[in-house]
Amino acid sequence: MTDLIIQEEKIIERILTMELVRVTERAAVSAARLRGRGDEKAADQAAVDAMRRELNRLPIEGTIVIGEGERDEAPMLFIGEKVGAGNGPKVDIAVDPLEGTTLCAKNMPGSIAVMAMARAGSLLNAPDVYMDKIAIGPGYASGVVDLDMSAEENVRSLAKAKGVKPSDITVLILDRPRHAHLIEGCRKAGASVMFITDGDVAGVIFTAQPAQTGVDMYIGTGGAPEGVLAAGALRCVGGQMQGRLILDSEAKRERALKMGIRDPKKKYDMKELASGDVIVCATGVTDGALLKGVRLGKDIIETETVIYRSFTGTVRRVQAEHREMEKFKLD
Ligand code: FBP
Repeated sequence: MTDLIIQEEKIIERILTMELVRVTERAAVSAARLRGRGDEKAADQAAVDAMRRELNRLPIEGTIVIGEGERDEAPMLFIGEKVGAGNGPKVDIAVDPLEGTTLCAKNMPGSIAVMAMARAGSLLNAPDVYMDKIAIGPGYASGVVDLDMSAEENVRSLAKAKGVKPSDITVLILDRPRHAHLIEGCRKAGASVMFITDGDVAGVIFTAQPAQTGVDMYIGTGGAPEGVLAAGALRCVGGQMQGRLILDSEAKRERALKMGIRDPKKKYDMKELASGDVIVCATGVTDGALLKGVRLGKDIIETETVIYRSFTGTVRRVQAEHREMEKFKLD
């Protein structure tokens, strides 16, 4: 009985699953209007405005725990901001209204509007810093890969667990000079390295379906907010992920401490990044391998959204045709 009560306290009202779709849809459509205009800030701002407006319509008492930055650097959706219409559950919210701002500004594949929601206290409260990440898909014993192992060791260990040669392993990595040692290590082990220029939320999610995406492992350093969002989604479909915040200055350590992070070198596993019943929702802005981008038609706007819910492990895809968005100018 006690267990049941504890669990119920962690569960999100399932009706909210569908409510989140509207939030990321609106953000995606607003950003899509600025695709390919070369203005990352404008596209991001449009997505932020739309996401905030929709969040404030939801029957929740929400707190942004992963957002556009801290209060002094972000006018909206800043960490600590309260959102929602009230009269509902107290929830933590992680947002990345436009994940892949450069991809959107250049109209390249893979930009998405993404957010996560969980009961208050369930998502890691982290400052907007970098995070070291490693992720693999479902079906492996825990500890097959580890942030404290070298890239070479991780490739060999994963290959052994999968029952293939290291040369059959593909590792996805953000194309950044800082990843030179990881790329070298993976190649030394014989693995194939696949690059993305941006967008590591999707990068981590790709590991969940290696047969479809060809990606066995994601490693590298990216945004901490993206790490928490990706962990929420991966928890739903299964897999393993670890993240470690990069708090390489006194100022960053102080900011983290204010958010309750006492051990600056802590290695978080997937459940510590996103625990309880987590819902992650993402809508495509530009076409990508995860989602189709927004189609801005004359009378109809089309969107594609994916929603992950960790409690049930359900993944839903919503293809929507919007007619009122133009009529009522709601976005
Ligand atoms: P933005 O949408 O904030 O530009 O983030 C895109 C992204 O590629 C993330 O997916 C990734 O975590 C991060 O940037 C990597 O940071 P950087 O571009 O500084 O290497």
